[in-house]
Amino acid sequence: MPLEGAGSWAPVALSSDLPPGTVIPAWTSAGSIALWRSQSGRATASSDRCPHRGMRLSHGFVRGEALSCIYHGWSYSVSGGCIRIPAHPDLVPPDSIRVAVQQVEESGGILWIAIGQPAMRPPQLDELEPLRSLSVETTVAAIEAAAGAQADARGLIRLPEFPWISLLLAAQEKHTLVLLMIEKHRSAADRITASRIVESLRRTAEERHREIAG
Ligand code: FES
Repeated sequence: MPLEGAGSWAPVALSSDLPPGTVIPAWTSAGSIALWRSQSGRATASSDRCPHRGMRLSHGFVRGEALSCIYHGWSYSVSGGCIRIPAHPDLVPPDSIRVAVQQVEESGGILWIAIGQPAMRPPQLDELEPLRSLSVETTVAAIEAAAGAQADARGLIRLPEFPWISLLLAAQEKHTLVLLMIEKHRSAADRITASRIVESLRRTAEERHREIAG
């Protein structure tokens, strides 16, 4: 079966959600990801499963330019190769021990992960500035209904009553990731307003979802 969204880019987090030296869980239709940023600032999307005993690498930790598993400390480079096995400090790990990595692009304050081999770069949203990310416990369709607008091909909704506010939506396994975006150069008061509006929209969408789910 073809992979949903294959050959496209999925937004997975805001750049500000991932400071240097951290790892967070992320998800695209291609699977679970450990999204991490090295101390030097490079973002990497590694498969979220350690090849040793299957521990989630998103539970691990970043040290320098490597991601380490929390269980036995095996460490992986930005290209996915295992570079250290603490129980065997003198061993050079064989090339066959590696995690899959997916292409990451960072543009306009958003982290995008490639699903398959996209022919183009991620969507450019130059007119917008990212504000915050939210997890909403419902579907993209329910959020569209609550917002009174449909997402465009980029996954972007412009709120009809507040056209300076946009929401970038990405379906997750059991919820929807919402990245709140606003027109550039808005005031501090507008930023607070936008945040309140999206929280209200989240409540509405989640309440409808619960009603439908019974
Ligand atoms: S499960 Fe990851 S190092 Fe053992």
